[in-house]
Amino acid sequence: MQKLWGGRFSASADSFAEEFGASISFDKRLAPFDIQGSVAHATMLGTCGIISAAESQAIVDGLGKVRAKLEKGELEFRLSDEDIHMNIERYLTEEIGSVAGKLHTARSRNDQVATSFHLFVRSSIVDVVEAFQELQSRLVEQAVEHAGVIMPGYTHLQRAQPVLFSHHLLAYAQMLQRDIDRAIDLYDRANVLPLGAGALAGTTFPIDRHLSADLLGFAAVYENSMDAVSDRDFVLEFLSLASIAMMHLSRLCEEIVIWTTGEFGYIELHDSLSTGSSMMPQKKNADFAELVRGKTGRVYGALVSLLTTMKGLPLTYNKDMQEDKEGCFDTVDTLLGSLTVVAAMVRTWKVKESAMRTSAAGGFTNATDAADYLAKRGMPFREAHEVVGRLVKHCIANEKALLDLSLIEFKSFSSLFEEDVFQALALETVVERRTSYGGTGGESVNRQLEVARELLCRTTAWVDAATPIVRR
Ligand code: ARG
Repeated sequence: MQKLWGGRFSASADSFAEEFGASISFDKRLAPFDIQGSVAHATMLGTCGIISAAESQAIVDGLGKVRAKLEKGELEFRLSDEDIHMNIERYLTEEIGSVAGKLHTARSRNDQVATSFHLFVRSSIVDVVEAFQELQSRLVEQAVEHAGVIMPGYTHLQRAQPVLFSHHLLAYAQMLQRDIDRAIDLYDRANVLPLGAGALAGTTFPIDRHLSADLLGFAAVYENSMDAVSDRDFVLEFLSLASIAMMHLSRLCEEIVIWTTGEFGYIELHDSLSTGSSMMPQKKNADFAELVRGKTGRVYGALVSLLTTMKGLPLTYNKDMQEDKEGCFDTVDTLLGSLTVVAAMVRTWKVKESAMRTSAAGGFTNATDAADYLAKRGMPFREAHEVVGRLVKHCIANEKALLDLSLIEFKSFSSLFEEDVFQALALETVVERRTSYGGTGGESVNRQLEVARELLCRTTAWVDAATPIVRR
């Protein structure tokens, strides 16, 4: 079969080599973006008088027909056409004949693929921002629903100090906000047009790259044609923010796995989001949380893979760069899928408030406050720490909690203890007194909720502004 670049060649490609070099099996996902880029290019060529208005119109109409067939699932892509760009051009030729050959005037597949991929990443950014926000709303919802519930906060997975469950959930909402901010920040850097860079050096035709950019909703054009076709840092940044977000999700999922164990029993997942064992009838496993934790690995893999692919490449385009797509597509699917399943778990889990509280009441989570009590009454904190350490040792030996001790027992460790120590060490007091900015006290958590609601609105406004641009 005649290749679109066949003029220079005498022998046809070996079929193994053809298959090895082809990208159509995966880059077909770029089809709508390739067509979008070509419509803009053909329009620009017509407007600039590089092809006639009639030719431009014929190409745009033909691309419309190709798009309609694509949407109906009627396009069958051929391996012999190598990649999505040449498959689409072949279909365009079938629709409108030889005038289709004018579309590639002043263009190379190098700036063409970079353009399609920018359009794909730009649109994926909006998808992931929406999915981040959805999970964030579910967390905020749970924080409100379970306001006032006390759980143990941990360091080293050992009970440390009591916190509000809402405070714990809002920590993740904040992490997700930074994930959102990273994505929004990347949007502006990815929203730049490579088209018009040609193969690497620009073109002799009087093109108008700013017109192409306007037509595609790009805010700017690449300043340097060699940079435009060479770099994939916009993909790397996407993979990097996705890796960080998966790390956040993986930590939340790890907590879900822990919290659903019989030993913790802080939450129970909805039946539809957990699975049983084929042998052990009693089992209810947090499989989906484990899967999200596990899938984090493939997203990191995509990042490291592309960083490695790119690191030794001389300017400008090299075929190595065809390896940029699969990991990115897989990452978009993995991240969106993970966010959806985690949001569903959070929305439907049953929170066992009394198990959290009971656990928070053990483990001497009020020991810091006992030391603070003495320190506020004049004892140097280091000394107070030592006194309370001995108190805790005494309690462990007698299988008691601090609040089980009598005032006489307290006083035998320090005469500074008075009747109000019981009030000071109560779980509610311990939590409520953490009034410092960002602390777990109720007032601070309410303020965090206010902030979270404002951030949710800000994200909605951003999505509403970006959506018509990326969905045009
Ligand atoms: N399928 C190719 C890729 O994804 C398109 C660009 C091909 N350009 C070239 N000079 N061979 O990288």
